[in-house]
Amino acid sequence: MLFSQNASKIIFLLLLYYSFSRLLNIVGADPPYPLCSNHSRYADNSSFHHSLNNLFYSLSSNSSVSKFYNTYAGNNLDRVYGLYMCFGNTTIEVCNSCISTASQDILKHCPNRKEAIIWEEHCQLRYSNTNFFSTLDIIGNQAQRNSMNILEPERRRFKDALNITLSRAVKDAVYDPSPDMYAAKKVRYLKSETLYAQVQCTGDLLANDCNTCLQIAINNASSCCNSSLGARIYSKSCYLRYEVYDFDGGAFEEIQMTAKNSKWKIWVTMIFVVSAFLAVTLLGSFVYCLKMKIVSHRGKTKIRWEDIISQEVPLHNIADPNGSEFLYQNFKAGDEQKAMEFPYIDLASIHAATDNFSESNMLGQGGFGPVYKGKLSDGTEIAVKRLSSCSHQGSEEFTNEVLLIMKLQHKNLVRLLGFCVDGEEKLLVYEYMPNGSLDVSLFDSTKCAQLNWSRRLSIINGIAKGMLYLHEDSRLKIIHRDLKASNILLDSNMDPKISDFGMARIVEGSEGEASTCRLVGTYGYMAPEYAMEGLYSVKSDVFSFGVLLLEIITGKRNAGFHDQSKLSHSLLSYAWQLWNEGKAVELMDPSVAESCCPDEFIKCVYLGLMCVQEDACERPTMSAIMLMLEGGTESSTLRQPDRPAFSWGISNEYDQINIDSLSFDRLTGSSDIKANE
Ligand SMILES: *[C@@H]1O[C@H](CO)[C@@H](O)[C@H](O)[C@H]1NC(C)=O
Ligand SMILES: *[C@@H]1O[C@H](CO)[C@@H](O)[C@H](O)[C@H]1NC(C)=O
Ligand SMILES: *[C@@H]1O[C@H](CO)[C@@H](O)[C@H](O)[C@H]1NC(C)=O
Ligand SMILES: *[C@@H]1O[C@H](CO)[C@@H](O)[C@H](O)[C@H]1NC(C)=O
Ligand SMILES: *[C@@H]1O[C@H](CO)[C@@H](O)[C@H](O)[C@H]1NC(C)=O
Ligand SMILES: *[C@@H]1O[C@H](CO)[C@@H](O)[C@H](O)[C@H]1NC(C)=O
Ligand SMILES: *[C@@H]1O[C@H](CO)[C@@H](O)[C@H](O)[C@H]1NC(C)=O
Repeated sequence: MLFSQNASKIIFLLLLYYSFSRLLNIVGADPPYPLCSNHSRYADNSSFHHSLNNLFYSLSSNSSVSKFYNTYAGNNLDRVYGLYMCFGNTTIEVCNSCISTASQDILKHCPNRKEAIIWEEHCQLRYSNTNFFSTLDIIGNQAQRNSMNILEPERRRFKDALNITLSRAVKDAVYDPSPDMYAAKKVRYLKSETLYAQVQCTGDLLANDCNTCLQIAINNASSCCNSSLGARIYSKSCYLRYEVYDFDGGAFEEIQMTAKNSKWKIWVTMIFVVSAFLAVTLLGSFVYCLKMKIVSHRGKTKIRWEDIISQEVPLHNIADPNGSEFLYQNFKAGDEQKAMEFPYIDLASIHAATDNFSESNMLGQGGFGPVYKGKLSDGTEIAVKRLSSCSHQGSEEFTNEVLLIMKLQHKNLVRLLGFCVDGEEKLLVYEYMPNGSLDVSLFDSTKCAQLNWSRRLSIINGIAKGMLYLHEDSRLKIIHRDLKASNILLDSNMDPKISDFGMARIVEGSEGEASTCRLVGTYGYMAPEYAMEGLYSVKSDVFSFGVLLLEIITGKRNAGFHDQSKLSHSLLSYAWQLWNEGKAVELMDPSVAESCCPDEFIKCVYLGLMCVQEDACERPTMSAIMLMLEGGTESSTLRQPDRPAFSWGISNEYDQINIDSLSFDRLTGSSDIKANE
């Protein structure tokens, strides 16, 4: 029985690894992509070498006037043919500097080759000792995919949009009489989503060959990047790119999607309604199960866990500074069953996976040490957190994180794949998240366009589900204590995963409150009772959740927030100010204005303000938040939020005035929402 359970678990893990590696093999790194021919080489200072230098000289000088050029240099056997093309709507200055970079890169990556090509971000450069002009060449196409995936309900619509934009663009590029053989189209395929596509052939190609090259590129894109929201195909004779954002400065011709939309809309709406209904039902029963403490599947694993842990480390003492020694003693060697639960990954594999912790693999610097990207020998991509060896504090966080997170399994919590303790080295190995942390996408003026309203809502929902799980999972009550945008990681579907459990604490008893002398957390997310008195509870996490929610919908950081009006010095007080003036919609991140509906937005502002109230008891619990997010509460029955913490003291003047002038009528929810419409 036990055996078959373990066996099925192994099979599951293998499947997981398999699908992981299949998925990730096609993720291209960023350009340049050199391709060097091994056929023949030239010697330094030979006359071929001189021809090549002359060629590069005339190509790069021409690149200051033209975005495509082909020419040759040298005589007879030392003749070398060369060609460059700058992509799409790049300016001539960018084109010129791209070609200079490319001519250096191509010599660096393909030294002494008589034939080579290099693709850069904005251009490609190719030379050869044989004449390749006006000849189609589709060998060695390179694909680069956008790591964001198409949302399943949008797939059909996206594919239709892709078909129509690409086929129209190819037609234009091929048959357009202008010599640049380039075309770019965009189509709005959902109310808030637009697809941008661009195709281009090298200017020496015949129309038929251009068509063939682009058709092959389209096939390449559909095989490499079937589920991606964007792709680039680099070919020797042509170039293709599509994304759901404007990557080329607005030079796209708008086209319309053909009829049959209305039928589609009905279908999409029906599917949406049905799945929303199912989701609500499922969630309802999930919450119910949690309450009844009968999460059957997890229950089994957990009992084993408790068996293991209760013998060695008391739960309340989980942050034992000697814990890593304990982990090492118990889980490194031998015991297979424990190894199943606590996968120990040896130091040599981690060194191999991260290329000896090379600089180029560093993803970032966390509070307790750097994080590296790596690839295990089976192809699984991983993120490795390496704890600074000297810090005693780090050791505590390490044990805490291993013991805690291994007991937790939820789709909105980051998964620990294994750990390693070896001498001074303490390493945590996580699944790799291709879309990085939320703050990177959210606070970047171009990347935030990929986070439309529905994605933001689903991110908020995911975080709420993860927090609900932490707070209300059976007899353990876990307080994260450091919830913030940089601790939310995004997987390839942009589903959020809460990470960084180094500061998390288990609290016992029904009140779930505790205190600490050592404050940990992040300025701007810390609840007042925690920041001032060191008291933490589930409600201090709720406070951080509220701050995070407001950041997600406004696209602004709470810490470091500045408003031109100078009345508000934090996002919270600014939100409170606009809420009271009945102008909460003005908080909306301009980049979701198209995809958002004001009612939903107001609901989120409301929820955010409820979470950041100064009095912890007044803040809702995660389960109440979940219900509100699912639309369970009538707006007419909502209580008004109280003033947020920190809005006083910082912005005294404003609050004083405002509180005095508030009338009860202005505070009733329904009239507030109407005023905003
Ligand atoms: C040329 O040889 C190198 C190493 O020998 C290899 O990595 C590369 O792929 C070869 N290039 C081509 C185009 O075959
Ligand atoms: C090529 O010529 C340069 C300058 O004339 C010289 O410095 C260099 O050593 C030569 N290289 C070879 C391999 O002959
Ligand atoms: C372009 O290259 C040709 C040689 O192929 C050269 O004669 C011409 O002057 C170059 N044009 C510019 C603008 O540099
Ligand atoms: C678009 O769809 C049509 C028929 O559904 C197909 O024949 C055509 O190859 C597709 N074009 C592209 C560019 O995918
Ligand atoms: C692109 O398509 C060509 C022709 O079907 C194929 O030979 C090549 O391997 C494909 N390349 C990629 C990167 O998918
Ligand atoms: C793309 O994915 C869809 C759904 O996952 C599948 O039905 C289709 O066959 C795939 N197309 C290609 C070219 O792989
Ligand atoms: C690039 O796009 C901008 C904005 O549409 C346009 O003004 C400009 O002319 C385009 N440049 C080229 C080289 O096509």
